Amino acid sequence: MSMAIPGDGVIDEGAVAFVRGVLESAASVAVLSGAGISTDSGIPDFRGPNGVWTRNPGAEKRSTIQHYVEDPQVRREAWQIRLHSDMFTATPNDGHRALVELERSGRLHTLVTQNIDGLHVIAGNSPDKIVEIHGTVHRWECVSCGARGPMDEALDRVRAGEEDPHCLFCGGIVKSATIMFGQSLVAADLMRAELAATEADVLLAIGTSLSVYPIAAMVPLALEAGRAVVIVNAEPTPFDEHAIAVIRGSASVVLPALLAL
Ligand code: APR
Repeated sequence: MSMAIPGDGVIDEGAVAFVRGVLESAASVAVLSGAGISTDSGIPDFRGPNGVWTRNPGAEKRSTIQHYVEDPQVRREAWQIRLHSDMFTATPNDGHRALVELERSGRLHTLVTQNIDGLHVIAGNSPDKIVEIHGTVHRWECVSCGARGPMDEALDRVRAGEEDPHCLFCGGIVKSATIMFGQSLVAADLMRAELAATEADVLLAIGTSLSVYPIAAMVPLALEAGRAVVIVNAEPTPFDEHAIAVIRGSASVVLPALLAL
């Protein structure tokens, strides 16, 4: 049964009670979060009405590892964007905090996030419960030797005048420790996500268009395993009709209503 609740900001209490009941009766809940959970923290999403790709379709095509490695100008621009990114000053919102409460209740199986902003860790979810499936902006990595370190180190070098800092160990190209288009996900992370989707009683998909694979496959995997899928998203997703409940609304408003313990 799919229950669409108008996204006019007013949430149907009956529907919230239904989903609360589903979540409360679940022994374990897996979460897949996307950029939509962080928009109320000031970080734009990608495909929403004001998304990064929506506003600049060409940017998505350039956001590949191939472009980054081959074109020094792409790297120089990327370092300037990192230097002024909202991701380093953003703070968690009530949506992130509601997921911390879910963990404190002992029912969080795994929190798989597509987000690279680190806000789930900052909010207080345990790092060992979180799978940052697309990596993190808070660390740098060398594409050649795999060396890693705190992003602040690299940004300090850019502030000191290095437009395209290279690895101090091997001279290789340095990027943020995110998974760019054209790169593979970490196999162990993907396995954890697939296990969560098939083991947890409920898969809660929050603030994601469920359009990027392989991680969007968590939803069909959960459905094939007979698990319940609940979607909280401001706009329709390809899996709405298969969910037992769909809530149109802002995650920072809906999640506290669903998970307030
Ligand atoms: N509450 C609920 N939903 C929201 C909110 C909000 N406050 N703000 C935006 N949304 C919805 C948008 O309507 C959109 O459908 O969140 C969804 C975000 O979808 P995307 O922008 O596609 O982001 P995401 O699904 O996380 O993208 C997956 O794509 O570009 C890559 O690597 C990038 O991790 C990203 C991946």
